[in-house]
Amino acid sequence: MGKTSKDKRDIYYRRAKEEGWRARSAFKLLQIDNECHVLDGVNKAVDLCAAPGSWSQVLSRKLNENYKKALETGNATPPKIVAVDLQAMAPLEGVIQIQGDITNVNTAKQIISHFDNEQVDLVVCDGAPDVTGLHDMDIYIQSQLLLAALNITTHILKQGGTFVAKIFRAKDVTLLYAQLKIFFPYVYCTKPSSSRNSSIEAFVVCKDYSPPEDYKPHMLNPLLTHEPCDFDELTGINRVVVPFIVCGDLNEPDSDTCYPLNFEGKEYTYHEPVQTPIAPPYQEALTLLENRDTDFRRSDVNVVVDNLNSMTIADLKKQAKQKHKEITKSEISKLQNSKNDDSEDILELDQLMFTELFDESDNMM
Ligand SMILES: C[S@@+](CC[C@H](N)C(=O)[O-])C[C@H]1O[C@@H](n2cnc3c(N)ncnc32)[C@H](O)[C@@H]1O
Repeated sequence: MGKTSKDKRDIYYRRAKEEGWRARSAFKLLQIDNECHVLDGVNKAVDLCAAPGSWSQVLSRKLNENYKKALETGNATPPKIVAVDLQAMAPLEGVIQIQGDITNVNTAKQIISHFDNEQVDLVVCDGAPDVTGLHDMDIYIQSQLLLAALNITTHILKQGGTFVAKIFRAKDVTLLYAQLKIFFPYVYCTKPSSSRNSSIEAFVVCKDYSPPEDYKPHMLNPLLTHEPCDFDELTGINRVVVPFIVCGDLNEPDSDTCYPLNFEGKEYTYHEPVQTPIAPPYQEALTLLENRDTDFRRSDVNVVVDNLNSMTIADLKKQAKQKHKEITKSEISKLQNSKNDDSEDILELDQLMFTELFDESDNMM
């Protein structure tokens, strides 16, 4: 039994250390391979989001086994593995390492440059963002990693090759599956037993890479660069236009236009909201307002309510002013009668005297 509680709790964590894997993730790739044979015959591979490197270790071991087998039957080329991660990785024999962001064009170009004119048999991506705890954000970033990996894959994977990537099985995962299906006729989702059930993580295994006819891999994906890209440059199969569906027609009212209250011959009637807010954020402000001694705003509202049928706004303003003055006078005498010498009250009295409901200059009616 290991020294720490993590050792005791997690069998894969413990076994990884026992067997010399840099991370327990190694078992995920091993189990995927047992089931889906993704490493059979592979000679060139790219490991995206590779740190600390347990998948690269698995790749290195398997690709060397494949090489030895191939040598027995004739000529064979030594395996090639390129591993990429944001974080630095300790060196691994036979693995070329690149430190970089896979969503960045330059990293993508660096990877591609290692395979000039060569194509690879397999691309794997175990990319996961530093989770923020904001699930939607984490899921979004993870899907961006997957799409960045797919984009790099379209540059270097050979026809018939395999792509394996971590995926979060969240709400819109079918959209990702649909995108993968454009390039691979066989897309499976798998969850190795070493992947915790409590995690929404799973893996897509995509086989038999067959891009659409005439598809040209490009780096115009806005995901990879913040510079504007010219989608007009894309033509034919490379230009994907999502259909737009119109709901409703021109006979229906326009949602951006202001219509008169009495509209289309119908007289306007006020209706209470079907459901008023139960605990609105302005509740406290309303309570404070209700408890105020001098409540101008309520008096203003009363004036408006009393005068809903006023002929003109000018009339309404006149009445509001009159009512306001009456209230002001009564408030002043109330305060004076209370003989309260408190300086704050005196200030309030002064303010009351000079408060106007409407600016005279605003009176345009
Ligand atoms: C679960 S770990 C990979 C474990 C690895 N497969 C192994 O077996 O050791 C996820 C990795 O994704 C990397 N990563 C996250 N975002 C990345 C990005 N934009 N570019 C490159 N690597 C990224 C992280 O640095 C982290 O090392």
